[in-house]
Order: sequence, then structure tokens, then C-alpha cells
Amino acid sequence: SAFVDVDIAALKPGEPLTVSWRGRPVWILRRTPAQLAALARRAALADPDSLTSEQPDSCRNAWRSIKPEILVVTALCTHLGCSPRLDGAGGGASAVVCPCHASRFDLAGRVLSNAPAPTNLAIPPHRYLDATRIRIG
Ligand code: FES
Repeated sequence: SAFVDVDIAALKPGEPLTVSWRGRPVWILRRTPAQLAALARRAALADPDSLTSEQPDSCRNAWRSIKPEILVVTALCTHLGCSPRLDGAGGGASAVVCPCHASRFDLAGRVLSNAPAPTNLAIPPHRYLDATRIRIG
């Protein structure tokens, strides 16, 4: 359908919830305070301000999200479309990695320099319907 509604009330820190929107996997990830703090260091990012990447205006900020802790991101590598994964479990993950050609992204989906992926992971259009429900699309 044109949009999908997701309730994030039970979302655990560091464990992405995957939903399908227009045939694409979308992750919703509740980042921990440590994971958010790591974003501020912005080490060796190809496009730290996401100037060439797909994202709504509501997410043009340091976290690429409406609420700092909640990341909504398309889980498709921008190189050749493989499915990336977190490089750790629970709240311990520090990056997103692509198994196909080793592109690495931070937990805002920003690609690290020298990766084959040309742009950051896309942030789909979305908004909050209330405190815990997100509409993607
Ligand atoms: Fe992800 Fe090539 S498809 S690095």
C-alpha cells in the first residue's frame, strides 16, 4: 500500500524492527545514548550532512531522524542493493555493514569514506501519528 503504520512502543534499544514499505525493507531502530553519542564524532564519512542522499527535510539534522533516538532507514545498500546488517547485537552495534562488498555505514546510515556505496542509506518519508506510531510513506 501507499503507507504502513508501525507501533514502536515495544521497540527494544539496538534491535531493529523490519517492516516492508513498497516492497523495500525499512528498519526502525531505537538508538541508545551511546550510539547517539558516537554519531557526533562523524569519523571519515563520505557525505556527513547527507547533501547527496535521499531523506525528508524533517530528518536534515545530526541524527537523520525526527526524534533523535528513533532511526527510520531503508535497509538496502546504495551500492548494488544487498541487505545490510548491524555489526553487533542489542545496543552494542556501532555500524551497519553490507555483506556483499563491505560498505560500512554509521548508525544514521551515513556511508564511511572509501566504501563502494556511493550515497548514504535512504531515509523514507515518514511522520509520527502519535507518541508511539509512525506512518511510513
Ligand atoms: Fe553493498 Fe556492494 S551491495 S557494498
